[in-house]
Amino acid sequence: MAIVALTSARGAPGVTTSALAMAMLWPRPVVLVEADVAGSSSILAGYLRGSVPPDRGLVSLAVAHRRGVLAERFFDQTVRLIEDRVRLVPGLVNAQQATSMDRLWSPLSMVLASLERTGTDVIVDAGRLGMLHAPMPLIRSADAVLLVTRTSLPAVSAARARIESLRTDLVELGQGDDTLSVLLVGEGQPYRAREIHASLRTPVLTSMAWDQAAADSLSHGAPYGRRFAAAPLFRSTRVVVGAVHELIDRHRARLAPASGEKLIEEPTYG
Ligand SMILES: Nc1ncnc2c1ncn2[C@@H]1O[C@H](COP(=O)(O)OP(=O)(O)O)[C@@H](O)[C@H]1O
Ligand SMILES: [Mg+2]
Repeated sequence: MAIVALTSARGAPGVTTSALAMAMLWPRPVVLVEADVAGSSSILAGYLRGSVPPDRGLVSLAVAHRRGVLAERFFDQTVRLIEDRVRLVPGLVNAQQATSMDRLWSPLSMVLASLERTGTDVIVDAGRLGMLHAPMPLIRSADAVLLVTRTSLPAVSAARARIESLRTDLVELGQGDDTLSVLLVGEGQPYRAREIHASLRTPVLTSMAWDQAAADSLSHGAPYGRRFAAAPLFRSTRVVVGAVHELIDRHRARLAPASGEKLIEEPTYG
């Protein structure tokens, strides 16, 4: 169905945690791409608690691209998160590896777009906007771009400082600004969706619940009790996943030619 990219303007609002929670509840097979160039693959070290060796992922994909075998090697560089349904492309282990990503992002965006044919969707953890070597080609190829932010004044003003250039970028080089939406982490702490919508002049998709225990389990691999799946974080994630699907459906309906519209005038014989 689609590529969904999550990014942030400042600090660590919960991009990785939200992207991982969404991938876990995604209704179709999905590949989560850890494309944050800040380094230290946080899902391998956090959620997977170092149980998977850091020998696959973006750096190996950059090598495969240099050898001209990116598409063929793509699935070999993924790690199973939940059976074959949720797979991960581990990110960089350190920030020095980021320079080798510049030439990978565009060809990788084409490989990711081609996964749709196999019924697989993609969720990209694009890290923070404005970083050197940031995965802008992946953000531009996305059918939904979620700017993740907390709701404090510093968080909202940082988002405001970044969102106009992101919008312009998506209009000029991406799939248009109707792909852009804001995802709140902890609505009402203290600002509410309506106020943030007015300040950012961008639709607010919905909100991830404030749920430190479940978030720490996803981001740091902290142990959680038996009822993990019933955590408030996952209940809100279900709403987020539904809202992302609606956003993508609206965007695709706009791109599709109106029904009955003829692309070529049919000749009339008489
Ligand atoms: N919905 C949430 N509720 C409470 N804490 C959260 C939530 N999402 C993330 N966090 C916490 O915020 C911190 C940063 O999260 P992370 O996902 O790593 O941020 P980012 O990827 O934006 O840098 C972590 O300690 C994580 O547990
Ligand atoms: Mg992160």
